[in-house]
Amino acid sequence: MFKLPDLPYPSDSLAPVVSDVTMRTHHDKHHAKYVETTNGIMAGKGDSTSSLEEVVRQSSGGREQKLFNQSGQAWNHGFFWESMTPTPSQPSGSLAEAITRAFGDMEAFKAKFVAEGVGQFGSGWVWLVAQGADVSIITTHDGDTALVHEGTPVLVCDLWEHAYYLDYKQDRKGFLEQWIDKVANWPFAEAQYAAAQGSGQPYSYPAPVASESMAA
Ligand code: FE2
Repeated sequence: MFKLPDLPYPSDSLAPVVSDVTMRTHHDKHHAKYVETTNGIMAGKGDSTSSLEEVVRQSSGGREQKLFNQSGQAWNHGFFWESMTPTPSQPSGSLAEAITRAFGDMEAFKAKFVAEGVGQFGSGWVWLVAQGADVSIITTHDGDTALVHEGTPVLVCDLWEHAYYLDYKQDRKGFLEQWIDKVANWPFAEAQYAAAQGSGQPYSYPAPVASESMAA
């Protein structure tokens, strides 16, 4: 069964961009529920599997929609926690060059990322993805994930209201502007971009553990 990974930083360390109460509710309640429901469906099927990535991919394309929604959300949140950091950072090296090639400059990239996130109707996610050396921005609906679309996920921001409503009310644009400016984790994004070029491993969700060790 899959575990809820710990946040990679203290829950209050992203404030004021993302408040402690938002982080705790989002991680401890929302993410935990996606993981729990995924485990419940998997247990009901009697399946054991090697990775959450495998569950997401095998349930995609309408094959098992409920499992895809839940496992996709479990994976997306794991990737989302890593996409943020309390340590200010900027893209550098080959990823910075790819962003400049694709968008003109960093400010134009940020404006496009915010605009795409604002333009996503309803719940979903806004992603920076890499296809080879090129980067682009995509959005996915609800529990859909860039993991099953073309390209390698590099960075993601959660567009569900539970990600920002307590702090920004309905102002998704204000949330996205603060997020991309202040808490986006560029060292993590650079590692994903390098993995897309075949250098190093991309992010993977923590491997499942046997039920006995969950109880320990
Ligand atoms: Fe979320």
